[in-house]
Amino acid sequence: MQAAALCASCKPKPKIAGAKRAALRRNALLSLKNVLYYKNTGAGCACTRSFQKNLGACSAMLVLIREEQEKEYDETEQMTRRAFWNKYRPGCYEHYLVHLLRTDAACVPQLTRVAEADGKVVGLILYTKSLLKTAEQEIPVLTFGPLCVDPAYQKKGIGAKLLHTTLDAAKALGYPGVIIFGSPDYYKQHGFFPCSRWGITTAEGESFDAFMGCELIPGGLHFPGAKFYEAPVFSSLSMDAVEEYDKKFPYMEKLRLPGQLEA
Ligand SMILES: CC(C)(COP(=O)(O)OP(=O)(O)OC[C@H]1O[C@@H](n2cnc3c(N)ncnc32)[C@H](O)[C@@H]1OP(=O)(O)O)[C@@H](O)C(=O)NCCC(=O)NCCS
Repeated sequence: MQAAALCASCKPKPKIAGAKRAALRRNALLSLKNVLYYKNTGAGCACTRSFQKNLGACSAMLVLIREEQEKEYDETEQMTRRAFWNKYRPGCYEHYLVHLLRTDAACVPQLTRVAEADGKVVGLILYTKSLLKTAEQEIPVLTFGPLCVDPAYQKKGIGAKLLHTTLDAAKALGYPGVIIFGSPDYYKQHGFFPCSRWGITTAEGESFDAFMGCELIPGGLHFPGAKFYEAPVFSSLSMDAVEEYDKKFPYMEKLRLPGQLEA
């Protein structure tokens, strides 16, 4: 009979002497820093500590948050396209945006991260430099996006892990805060607040719930009256160029769906 894979907690643990066990535990903790381990205890996983009735159904999944490799660019863009397709408008442009951002001067490649699971790219986050401007000064801050997770891997905490791993890295780079346009319901669960909290507006002087920020250091976004300017790449996106770029991807039907931003 073929041996089936067990999730880690179901595997018999070898007996290891005390000091060696402590060293192994330290190493395991270090290597787990950027790794998510999921044990699906739902219908898919039939493993128990006492019985393995259906070993083949064990669906433990290891998710690695790591830097993107150049050879994965196409794979990452395909995943981005699947994640955004028909979500906010018929079709999407975010895969083209990812393509542009990689060579854009505003991109902060040190913060680009992909999530890997089952040997493939299942998530992505990219950051760009942006500015807060007051009458007296310009404060460099960050914006992220696209943030996306392959539809087949959503609701497993991968988006949250991509976000928090990179917010920590952004803080380590010395940035005072991050400002985004995003779904308030999602980002408020992750430490983001409407920018009205700090008296910051968009470049046009607007303020709304989806215009959100997160301080990376206390007081990092306390610039009342400041206006936010994101990188020009976001506003100069050509829809004709999107259409042209999209031709290199497999056909997917554009649909007008309820809940999309653009009618
Ligand atoms: C948003 C996204 C990155 C979240 O990734 P994820 O790995 O599924 O996120 P997590 O597992 O960390 O969190 C999932 C939770 O967030 C919720 N959520 C996801 N998108 C949401 C949204 N736009 N508004 C409110 N809640 C949202 C899910 O319903 C889920 O809630 P639950 O756990 O109570 O069921 C992913 O849904 C995605 O790629 N969406 C399409 C692209 C997109 O919209 N990107 C964000 C642009 S602002």
